[in-house]
Amino acid sequence: MEVIISNTYEELSKAAAAMVAKTLNAKPNAVLGLATGSTPLGLYKELIRMHKEEGLDFSHVTTFNLDEYVGLKPNHPQSYRYFMQENLFDHINIAPQNTHLPSATTDDHEMFCESYERMIDECGGIDLQVLGIGSDGHIGFNEPTSSLSSRTRIKTLTRQTIKDNSRFFEAGENVPTYAITMGVGTILEAKKVILLASGEGKASVIADAIEGPVTSMCTASVLQFHERAIYYLDTAAASKLKMRDYFEWIQANLPSGPA
Ligand code: F6R
Repeated sequence: MEVIISNTYEELSKAAAAMVAKTLNAKPNAVLGLATGSTPLGLYKELIRMHKEEGLDFSHVTTFNLDEYVGLKPNHPQSYRYFMQENLFDHINIAPQNTHLPSATTDDHEMFCESYERMIDECGGIDLQVLGIGSDGHIGFNEPTSSLSSRTRIKTLTRQTIKDNSRFFEAGENVPTYAITMGVGTILEAKKVILLASGEGKASVIADAIEGPVTSMCTASVLQFHERAIYYLDTAAASKLKMRDYFEWIQANLPSGPA
């Protein structure tokens, strides 16, 4: 596991964007796994800038999003499809048919979830998975006690996640109780995983995920088993890491020179 600590949210977003660009430059038809939420917004903004100013090409890229609320139509402003169009897809040269999100409106969840996994496989698997982390340690919507081998499925969100996400909804509007999410096992199969976290509010859960035991009580902790997982943190999110000095020492003394 690699931990890269930046001074600011902007810096961490740029560092993560550089990793996405490196992946696309090495493999123009890469398959990206994408997340929503507030944390990757800076990353997406930087990718849009790189596309517009530096010609970063998405024309052969395929994407699979981690999750989607059950019941929200794609044109609902809080649906993750809407979020992705607004914050990334509408501003880059990605082919619409290459962008995939779990279906929020399917009647047959089980069949849909199996087909989502199959589609990922048929595209050759995810080359680079982008993750945020919930205040309870979730990745995707794999809430505490999710099986660490779980696959794409319908999940009941915790009260805390519903509360955390209510900030995005209009007053009086109900936050959905269910989501379809890639499983922890699905995420672990990505060839490379980057997890972004910013702000003091994430400091405890980041310390648990990186330095605590691997446990389904903090599903992000499973990344300790991943061969190529990189955490991009700002100093606030890194503030409770016991090994912070060591992580900074490693970055300053990379065998290949500073990152
Ligand atoms: C979103 C997702 C979630 C978020 C997490 C953090 O697609 O999978 O796991 O990454 O809830 O959300 P923010 O970034 O808003 O703190």
